[in-house]
Amino acid sequence: MEKEPLFISFSTQKGGVGKSTFTVLVASYLHYLKGLNIAVMDCDYPQFSVYDMRKREIRQLETNLHYQSKAIALFDSLGKQTYPIVCAKPEEGIDKAREFLADEPTLYDVVFFDLPGTINNDGVLSTFMAMDYVFVPMAPSRMSMESTLSFVIPVNEILTEHKEFNLKAIHLFWNRVDGRIKKEWIEHYQGVIDQFGLPLMQTSIPQSVRYDKEQTIEGSDAVFLSTIFPADKALLKGSNLDLLVDEFLAITHLNPQS
Ligand SMILES: Nc1ncnc2c1ncn2[C@@H]1O[C@H](COP(=O)(O)OP(=O)(O)OP(=O)(O)O)[C@@H](O)[C@H]1O
Ligand SMILES: [Mg+2]
Repeated sequence: MEKEPLFISFSTQKGGVGKSTFTVLVASYLHYLKGLNIAVMDCDYPQFSVYDMRKREIRQLETNLHYQSKAIALFDSLGKQTYPIVCAKPEEGIDKAREFLADEPTLYDVVFFDLPGTINNDGVLSTFMAMDYVFVPMAPSRMSMESTLSFVIPVNEILTEHKEFNLKAIHLFWNRVDGRIKKEWIEHYQGVIDQFGLPLMQTSIPQSVRYDKEQTIEGSDAVFLSTIFPADKALLKGSNLDLLVDEFLAITHLNPQS
């Protein structure tokens, strides 16, 4: 039997903590740098921010010759194009993904699902529970932590008590950590996370402007966040994105070709 792709989501009920950002960054890293075949289901209806980003980038490529020739060189060297981004309502995400996969000649390794923050809704929750893995970005602020834990703790309890869900594990990671955050504060929440037996990734992601560094209409700046290019090598330094991807690959048992 052909290998089924993994269904993976960067998801949390907290808004604005990096769900779409990490969906794009990790999808692009794996697709363009690690030789894996990726598809993205944009289920954040009606924002569709990942799909919108792709549309914006394609429009820019039409007039920006620098990015255009860079993209052609990249696709030539890889022998493949960009990854598909398919829009769906969150409750229809799994069915739409299966329909999409059935019609495709390509074998995919991972399908990422960008879900909305309103997981406390039956349709979204069932898509969430149908993932193989969920990765939860957490910003180190009291509000963000309280909102995240109030959702993740009960879901994790359900997962340990019931084995009928597809979801194997939820892994948390710190995002937007800056030097001003007190160590004791982080240690306090790390204690809470341990107490509830929640898996916490070792990699934490710093607060950094590069996480907002998209392609521009004019100019030829290095790009970090893109659905068409992998994060620029020089900008990777100090971002910890490469470390996050290594940990991600170990957790999901994916075997990249490079
Ligand atoms: N480590 C970081 N450093 C700096 N900015 C960041 C970092 N991570 C995310 N951001 C920025 O935070 C903003 C919100 O991120 P993003 O849109 O990915 O959140 P989200 O969880 O998908 O939000 P929503 O709930 O609206 O879907 C974006 O502008 C993004 O570039
Ligand atoms: Mg989003």
